[in-house]
Amino acid sequence: MTTVLAHPNIALSKYWGKRPGEGNVPAVPSLSVTLSGVSTTTHVELRDDLREDRFVLDGEAQAGEPLARVVRLLDRVRAARGHTKFASVESRNDFPTASGLASSASGFAALALAAVRAFDLDWPAERVADLARQSSASAARSLFGGFVELEGENARPVAPAEHLPMKVLVCVTTEQKKAVSSTDGMKRSAESSPYFEAWVAKAPEMHARVKRALLARDFEALGAAAEASALAMHATAMAAGLVYFNGVTIEATRSVRALRDKGTPAFFTIDAGPHVKVLVRPEDAALAATWMRAVPGVLRVIEAGIGEGARVTS
Ligand code: DP6
Repeated sequence: MTTVLAHPNIALSKYWGKRPGEGNVPAVPSLSVTLSGVSTTTHVELRDDLREDRFVLDGEAQAGEPLARVVRLLDRVRAARGHTKFASVESRNDFPTASGLASSASGFAALALAAVRAFDLDWPAERVADLARQSSASAARSLFGGFVELEGENARPVAPAEHLPMKVLVCVTTEQKKAVSSTDGMKRSAESSPYFEAWVAKAPEMHARVKRALLARDFEALGAAAEASALAMHATAMAAGLVYFNGVTIEATRSVRALRDKGTPAFFTIDAGPHVKVLVRPEDAALAATWMRAVPGVLRVIEAGIGEGARVTS
C-alpha cells in the first residue's frame, strides 16, 4: 500500500483553454501557489484478487466518469510498467467539496504519485506531473510546493514558499456544487466566446506580469496582476454565457477593494465557481479574515498558507 498526501493549488495566472487535439495540454501558461492546511490523502494498493480497479472517494465507492478518469490514469501507468494488476484506490479530502478548492488538482496529484510508486516506477517529479496533467492540468502544479508554473506540458517550481510569504483566504459563498466543470467551461469558452482568441493571445503577457512580480517579491504588483488574470479569464467565460459568480461573489470582491482602499494590500482571485480567494500578507491575514467574514453571504473563511508538493507518507 502506498499513501500520498497532496494539497490543492490556487492559480495566480489562470489556465483556461486547451490546445487543440488530444492530451489535455493547456493553451496558456499558468502560475499557482500550492496551499497548506488543506489536503487530499490517497492510498493505492495493487491487489491480485481484483478483476477491475476500484475507487472510493470520501468513503463512497465511485462509478461512471469519476471511476473512468481514475482508471485512465492507472492504465497509463500499467502501460508504462508493462503490468496488468488492478488497483484499489481510496482517497479522502479534508476540505469540503463545495469549498471551491479544486479537489481534482490535489486528487490527481496524489493519485499520480501514489500509482507511480505503487507500480514501483522511479519517475522524477516532472514525469509524475506530466501524468497528472493528462487527467487534470492544474493537478500537475500540485506535485510541487511553493510557487509553480505550468507551460504547455511542463510543470516546474518557480520559487519556494519563503520567497514571498502570503496567505490565501478562501471565502465560501455557497454550499452548492458548481454548475459547469472547468473542463466543460473551457470547451464552451473555446467554442463560443468571442474573446477566447484574445484571451489565448494575451494570457502569456498576463502570466509574465505575475511571474515578474513574484520574482521581484513585489506582493502588491503580484496581487494586481493576479486579479487582472482572473478577471480576463472570467470575461472570456462570461462572453460564452458562463457566469460563475453569484451575488456574494461580487460583494466579496467589492469588500476586498474596500479593504485595499483603507490601506491593507488585499487582492482577489476567482476560479470556475462562485467562491472568492483573497491574497494577503501573513501579518494582514487575521484582519482580512475578520473583514471577509463580515460580508453578508460569506458562509465561512478557510485560512490557507503556502504548502509543499505531493509526497509519499507511507
Ligand atoms: C479556473 O485543471 O480543473 O482553476 O484540465 O480540464 O481538468 P482540466 O481543468 P482544471 O482547470 C482549472 C481551471 C482554473 C484555473 C487554474 O487552476 O489555473
